[in-house]
Order: sequence, then structure tokens, then C-alpha cells
Amino acid sequence: MQLAQRLKAIKPSPTLALNARAKALAAKGVDIAGFAAGEPDFDTPEFIKEAAIDCLRAGFTKYTPTAGIPELREAICAKLQRDNQLTYAPDQVLVSVGAKHSLYNLFQALLNEGDEVIILAPYWVSYPDMVLLAGGKPVIIETREEDGFAPDPEAIRRALTPRTRAVIINSPSNPSGAVLSRAVLEGIAAAVRGHDCLIVSDDIYEKLMYEGEFLNIGNVAPDLVPRLVVVNGMSKSYSMTGWRLGYAAGPKPLIAGMNMIQDQSTSNPTSMVQKGAVAALKGPTDTITTMVTEYRARRELIVSGLNALQGVSCRYPDGAFYVFPNVKALLERSYKGQKVGSSQRLSDILLEDFRVAVMPGAPFGAEGYLRMSFVTSREVIQKGLARIGELIAALS
Ligand SMILES: Cc1ncc(COP(=O)(O)O)c(C=O)c1O
Repeated sequence: MQLAQRLKAIKPSPTLALNARAKALAAKGVDIAGFAAGEPDFDTPEFIKEAAIDCLRAGFTKYTPTAGIPELREAICAKLQRDNQLTYAPDQVLVSVGAKHSLYNLFQALLNEGDEVIILAPYWVSYPDMVLLAGGKPVIIETREEDGFAPDPEAIRRALTPRTRAVIINSPSNPSGAVLSRAVLEGIAAAVRGHDCLIVSDDIYEKLMYEGEFLNIGNVAPDLVPRLVVVNGMSKSYSMTGWRLGYAAGPKPLIAGMNMIQDQSTSNPTSMVQKGAVAALKGPTDTITTMVTEYRARRELIVSGLNALQGVSCRYPDGAFYVFPNVKALLERSYKGQKVGSSQRLSDILLEDFRVAVMPGAPFGAEGYLRMSFVTSREVIQKGLARIGELIAALS
């Protein structure tokens, strides 16, 4: 069968693929220590579920406006004002089926063939592919572990061209956990100020902070807010990954364009999910505090455990729920007579021979690293660390 050319530009999501492999092994009864998933292991808070159930019972089961119900768009505007000191009107907000969908709509609405989008590596795996799918060109800028994976604003300045349409910022970052400081954000703002491009701020991990403060670039550079798009969603802060609810707030013409793409593809996000999101945004925040307290303890356990392993070094993530250990020394060693060589092979060996699921760094644009999420119990973290220790002992 002949399929569209555009499929050739992209690849399956490596995170979803690895998770599927790990789940298939677990289904066969293999006891996997899983660090690959990017979703909280907490259940969705009860009051959010109740709101959606009430709404189902009340028959709120029909199409809604494509952009989301007015009540939700108003709640999002109130949230952006309250938590982020950013002022948006409801007609500047589009609610979609996850932040991933928001970003997809965004690039579809923004990019022409060959338009460039600056992406900071290590990056979330889907950014380059979503840009490619829209006919754009991802322009990758490396960051360095010794700089805490914060970008050098000068490198961004050098990468800007007349074709640059957007720069993506993701702080706290998936996969590095880096949180961009006020100074770095000011540097990025200064770099892009003279250039007519959008700033896409993917704030999905904003509530999961361990050190420092969360800042959106709009807070340090209010003059850039007219060309800022804030992307956020319910998945990570409210343990609502399966509900699929995200949103974008930004310049009206862009949001209108994204709305049109959504109109002609998926229409509105699920009606009762929208009511659940209203409850989440207006409700108590103690469930987030509970999650962050537990994640902080796990962060300590996993970082100290990784640093105790020979050939592994790991910085403390300032936010999100991932560690990004440096395993370059392990790649130089051999397993069963063959050089390990790549983070992909290391991940394969760990899954197949040691029953540990970790993401290789390469698909995140950083070979020599692994991405491990700590959204799993302390027992599993300890078990996984012990198994990685067994692998290291088996290397020559
Ligand atoms: C950086 C980042 N942005 C966006 C998303 C998408 O989140 P969702 O589509 O579940 O809202 C993810 C999910 O892993 C992510 O890590």
C-alpha cells in the first residue's frame, strides 16, 4: 500500500514504544522495574473524578464548542493570572486533547515548508517530529550538563535566521529536570527580542518543583507576551494522563488558526473531561503538595543511588519527575564480549537481561545519558538500582 510521504519524515514515539515493550513483558509475568513511563503513579484526585461522574449523570455528553466550554476557558485564564501573572482572555485559549495535541495544532497552524523551530537539547522526544510533520525544520541547540542543561542565549541568537518561526522553552524540562533561572530566561528574551518569532513555553511540569522558583519567560520579559504561547495541561500536575486535556494560550490569530485545525480534525475535547478539568483548576491543591513531597523523597533515593554506582553520575533535577544520569563511562565498556556502545543498547540490555525499563538518552537528543522517571514506588526504585548495579558488575 502506498502511504503519504510525510510518514517518512517521522518515527514512532520511542517512549511509547519502550513502554509498550515493558508492559508486554510484564503481562507475561516478568517482574519489570519500570522507569520509562512519563506519568504519575498517583490516582486522579477523587474530587476531579466526582465532577466528571456528576457531569455524565447530568447528561453533559454532547458536542461542546471546539475551543472548550466557556467555563473551562475562563478557569484557565484565572489560573494563568493567579499562578503565572499572565493575562489572557478566553478567546485567546484553545483547549485540546492533551498538551501534545495543543503543540501539534500549534505547529500545523504556524509553519510553512522549511520554516525553522529552535529546540533545546535534551528535548522532549515529540518536538522535532511534530515540527517535521508540519513541514518545518527542527534546529537543535545543544546544552551542557556542566551548565545544568541551561542554554547559552548566545547560541540561540546565532541560530536565529529569517526562517525561524519559534523557539521552544520547556522548564522544568523533560528529560533533564532543568529549571531555567531568571537570568537564563532574561538571556533568551534578549536573544529573541529583535527577531520576529514566537516563544513557545511548555509549562506542563510547572507544579513539580524541588528547587528554585518556576518562572515563565513572560514574567521576566512582559514585552514578549504578545508573541508568547503558553502550553500546559492536566496530565502531570493532577495525574490525569489518560483523560487527555491540555491547552494553549496565546495571540488571537494563532489561537484562531489552531482552532480551525482542531475544528476540521478532532473538534472538542471530551465533554466530561472538560468538567473534570474545571474542578481540578478551581479545586484544592493539597494533592499536588502530597505528590511533590513523595517525589522529592524518591528524587533523593534515586539520585543518591545512581551516584553510588560505578560509572554513573547524576545531577539533581530541580523539577519534573525525571533523572538524566550520565552513563558515558558504561558505553565504553563491554557486555558479553561486545562494546555497549550506545544508550539504546544499554537500555535494551537492561530491559532484556536485567528487567529494568529505562529510556535511552539518544531520542532526547543526548547520547550518553539515560532518562529514568521516578513516578514509581521507593521499593521499585531500590530494586531497579540493584539490578543496574548487577549489570555494571557484569560489564568488562
Ligand atoms: C514536555 C512535555 N510536553 C508535553 C507533554 C504532553 O502531555 P499531555 O499530552 O499528556 O498533556 C509531555 C508528556 O510527556 C511532556 O513531557
